[in-house]
Amino acid sequence: SAIARSSSAAGAQIQRRGYSVHSGPERKVAVLGAAGGIGQPLALLMKLNPLVSHLSLYDIAATPGVAADVSHINTRSEVKGYAGEENIREALEGADVVIIPAGVPRKPGMTRDDLFNINAGIVKSLCTAIAKYCPHALVNMISNPVNSTVPIASEVFKKAGTYDEKRLFGVTTLDVVRAKTFYAGKAKAPVAEVNVPVVGGHAGITILPLFSQATPQANLSAEDITALTKRTQDGGTEVVEAKAGKGSATLSMAYAGALFADACLKGLNGVPDVVECSFVQSNVTELPFFASKVRLGKNGVEEVLGLGSLSDYEKEGLEKLKPELKASIEKGIKFANAN
Ligand code: NAD
Ligand code: LMR
Repeated sequence: SAIARSSSAAGAQIQRRGYSVHSGPERKVAVLGAAGGIGQPLALLMKLNPLVSHLSLYDIAATPGVAADVSHINTRSEVKGYAGEENIREALEGADVVIIPAGVPRKPGMTRDDLFNINAGIVKSLCTAIAKYCPHALVNMISNPVNSTVPIASEVFKKAGTYDEKRLFGVTTLDVVRAKTFYAGKAKAPVAEVNVPVVGGHAGITILPLFSQATPQANLSAEDITALTKRTQDGGTEVVEAKAGKGSATLSMAYAGALFADACLKGLNGVPDVVECSFVQSNVTELPFFASKVRLGKNGVEEVLGLGSLSDYEKEGLEKLKPELKASIEKGIKFANAN
């Protein structure tokens, strides 16, 4: 399917990037939170992407060092580091894609929603700056809780009069990356050929992998599917616990974030059939935001694809996730309008 083609091609490209001579139009990518656990490896991976001509690395501190380091890599993009709010204008101006991994990560025992009180304010201020300085950029929201930070961003943009639902994305690619890896292991399928859509949201049971649509098909038992679903839903927690207080997924997230940004850039450049799962404004369910397969194009979202046919187990999971996802969306909207 299209999603398999686009993801595996992008993955192969990331590995070959250092040697690629392909360029294409000028594209500026800004990373906000570029000195962090995700931000640094993401900066590295975006520096390896030949579709990027200008790489802007912004954080509240430490970006001069990250930028100096990454800038010595002999690939296409010119790298600039910006530290501190007084420099955010320059960091953002002219950006085609803005990736946001700014904010605090979880520690063991926390839910993603426990990050709301700190990260909501960070996302709100960054999105206020985006509305001012690069209102047409595609925004890739990584900061948690994604189920709330994307609605916050939409409200900030609406208030500024710049909201375009085609340009706002919650990054759920890591859920897809995990579902593919775990499924390949169980199904004994070559991981590079595996494709699994993941829909819903990005927290616990709101993460709904559709293993009934996984390819290549495998005859897995109901117990296997339940275990795979649970492991995908708890993938973030698995890493948080293994890191034991030193944060959450950073390296796999940087990979996933780089894949999704690459898909956005390809869409902007007019590459056909670029399809990835993402948490976007949606009519797929009664909820205003929902993750599903999305076709990317020159204006961002070209088409939000439906869910396809679901197994009874997935239908049940879909109904179960709706109240939690709805509450997280409403919490974000309320925050943005109250503050
Ligand atoms: P980190 O603490 O290592 O890095 C965060 C960075 O953000 C720091 O460098 C910090 O200085 C910066 N920052 C804080 N406030 C800022 C501001 N106002 N402007 C710019 N930069 C600011 O954390 P991390 O491990 O990189 O995780 C970052 C976020 O990504 C967390 O919220 C985490 O939960 C989330 N995350 C999301 C996914 C996903 O799948 N969407 C996956 C992993 C992590
Ligand atoms: C993840 O899925 O790894 C991220 O959302 C980070 C987390 O807190 O689990």
